[in-house]
Amino acid sequence: MNVRAELERKLSEALRGAGAGENAVAMVALSARAQFGDYQANGAMAAAKQAKTNPRALAEQTVAIARESLGDMVESLEVAGPGFINIKLSGAWLASRCDAVAGDERLGVPQPDAPQTVVVDSSSPNLAKEMHIGHLRPTILSDAVARILGFLGHRTVRQNHVGDWGTQFGMLIACMEEIEAQSGPRAVTALQDLDTFYRQARAKFDSDPEFARRAREAVVRLQSGEEGALRHWRGFVDISLRHAEALYERMGVDLHREDVRGESAYNRYLPGVVQSLREQGLLTESQGAQCVFLEEFRIKDGDILPVIVQKSDGGYLYATTDLAAIRFRCGMGKTEGVVDWSGDRVLYFTDVRQTLHFQQIFAVARAARFAPEGVSLEYVPFGTIMGPDNRPFKTREGEPVRLVDVLNESVQRARALVDEKNPDLPESDRDAIASAVGIGAVKYFDLAHNRTSDYVFAWERMLAMEGNTAPYMQYAYTRVRSIFRKGLEQGGTEPGSVAIAEPAERALALKLLQFPETIASVAAEAYPHLLCNYLFELAGAFMSFYESCPVLQAATDALRASRLALADLTARTLQTGLRLLGIETVERM
Ligand code: ARG
Repeated sequence: MNVRAELERKLSEALRGAGAGENAVAMVALSARAQFGDYQANGAMAAAKQAKTNPRALAEQTVAIARESLGDMVESLEVAGPGFINIKLSGAWLASRCDAVAGDERLGVPQPDAPQTVVVDSSSPNLAKEMHIGHLRPTILSDAVARILGFLGHRTVRQNHVGDWGTQFGMLIACMEEIEAQSGPRAVTALQDLDTFYRQARAKFDSDPEFARRAREAVVRLQSGEEGALRHWRGFVDISLRHAEALYERMGVDLHREDVRGESAYNRYLPGVVQSLREQGLLTESQGAQCVFLEEFRIKDGDILPVIVQKSDGGYLYATTDLAAIRFRCGMGKTEGVVDWSGDRVLYFTDVRQTLHFQQIFAVARAARFAPEGVSLEYVPFGTIMGPDNRPFKTREGEPVRLVDVLNESVQRARALVDEKNPDLPESDRDAIASAVGIGAVKYFDLAHNRTSDYVFAWERMLAMEGNTAPYMQYAYTRVRSIFRKGLEQGGTEPGSVAIAEPAERALALKLLQFPETIASVAAEAYPHLLCNYLFELAGAFMSFYESCPVLQAATDALRASRLALADLTARTLQTGLRLLGIETVERM
């Protein structure tokens, strides 16, 4: 029940019926100005140009045909300016559509015609260190998009492509071996503080050439499968993952051990990647390294930028691993019986600084047919989180801020808010609310920004009770729910069929019906901020409605039941929308 898509389909048919070309589309969008209508169709001008006819006449003709096909869905259809078509939906139609949605668990969101398997590369931190602020965005954004795709009815496969095979492990292993040589066997998992251990190893590595040599040698032993090195490595991977999992759980992120397929998992596929490239004639040796040169990476009038897949010493690179991963995700994993899926779409969430890397591996994967043509490879980049000084968010010591510290501080600040607003609630309730609000605030603030831009991490703004924030959205939800609590004491809460008379009722009904199209665009383009904007507008439409339209005190029983239905639908839509963003709701605040 996607209103926009329905209008676009019918108006496109009308446009073609009016003489536009076979491929003409009506291009229906939300109206730029509410006084002109609810939606507008912008496609007549381009279609007229193509068909070499007068755009206004084509629009008029389209309207004449669409009046028939749209029937009682619209109240008015008008041509404006050079050939825009303004569309106003009818109140009766909005009301009956709300009734239909009220009876639908999916709130009107249609199942896809062809469900896809969507692989979502999620979170993917480099291990051996604790997660920091830089890991917030790939974790939060990918979780929201995966939830939305799953809700739509696609099969989502999360893949946590952790960096578990890098040279940083050499240092840690060498450090551990040194400790063991001094004081006997040790289990890595007994380490209390991973970050401190990492810093110690790093300091030794930087200051002691003999230690650095041993660390490099440990990498070689690890990668050639020596049991001693592997044993420590497993320990480091395990504690890093346990640490990450504790954060995922606390943040309500749906990522688990079975979603981890780290760099090391592709190790055995790397020689095959290089060999396949060689067999297909795509490989060139350059200064001892194995490279792929593709014309599309020619620098203006100059050389071609190589994609290096094997270094002169035989070592593989980040790109080689990603090529193996693409191959795995696009069918090889299934062919080999390792997994039971093969992706139709693969989404990668990383910092915008990895743009070139993904352009390169996608291009090589296409050239080598590691990804069949039908599979969509999509890079979903995002900007940087800045500190108050407008530079990447760091601690005073210049280290990236630890994620656990960010969450702790946010919950603590939220707790102060709750204590102030609601000192009489029992302690345990205040704890639960502070956790939902504090975690929600950090996540929502991230999701509400257009992911492609940088943003400044500002506590006051993310925890504000006003504006497009988690606390405001969570509060708006409790406001709606409180009507139902009060209603139980005042003559019942049974919703009935929707009738629309007041402008605020109409505006709310229209917003409610735009949930499906919002979900569809978030799924298509992986922009969760579109859902945040929508929910914020919905909450605003509800607040206006609530101010001007008494619900429990409505003049008649029928009116009361209609308004209860709108309120109930609002609560369900807010709750579902927030849940899809990974934001918890509470019953009171
Ligand atoms: N571990 C990488 C980093 O921290 C991100 C990995 C993203 N996923 C991928 N398939 N390359 O930068």
